[in-house]
Amino acid sequence: MTPLLTESELREGVRRTAAAIAETYAGSPVTIVGVLTGSLVFVADLIRHLEMPLRIAFVQARSYWGPATQPGSLYLDVSRLPQLRGQHVLLVDDIFDTGRTMEALVRELTRHEPQSLRSAVLLRKQGRQEVALAPDFVAFDIPDAFVVGYGLDFNDLYRNLPYLAVLNQAAAEDASR
Ligand code: IMP
Ligand code: MG
Repeated sequence: MTPLLTESELREGVRRTAAAIAETYAGSPVTIVGVLTGSLVFVADLIRHLEMPLRIAFVQARSYWGPATQPGSLYLDVSRLPQLRGQHVLLVDDIFDTGRTMEALVRELTRHEPQSLRSAVLLRKQGRQEVALAPDFVAFDIPDAFVVGYGLDFNDLYRNLPYLAVLNQAAAEDASR
């Protein structure tokens, strides 16, 4: 598959985003809440650029079922969250598409009464948003195409590609078998 973002472009975007995050929190401790499974690579790279006190937690969200490239009903699992009351919380996801996942997670995490709640995403797809909410940190704006790699999947495959690619027909067929 042809890269939409190469490994070095991703590295640079993650570095830039980490710098903006570090500047915002100015040394205050932050609890990073990653959204499984797609954010795992982004979270792993992002935290190694963040020289600040931080804790890491994960929630699970799922809106794509099987070989689909359009979202279905949203499933959220927040059962592994630590105490968030009074903490600075940064939600980290792979991609802001319709925004429904982030909107639902913000609503859920707000109930935990954090001191502050912000969001960071690796990618934002242009022209797809269906919510009023906007992420606080965006590493890259990308065109409206289904992308895989760097944590993002199609039918649970291709998360391990070190670059980001637009899913092509052949790869979609391979992953649907
Ligand atoms: P939203 O709720 O529509 O914003 O979708 C967010 C979730 O859908 C992300 O966390 C991704 O897991 C998934 N998603 C959206 N677009 C893509 C894509 O192009 N490739 C892979 N996963 C995607
Ligand atoms: Mg996801």
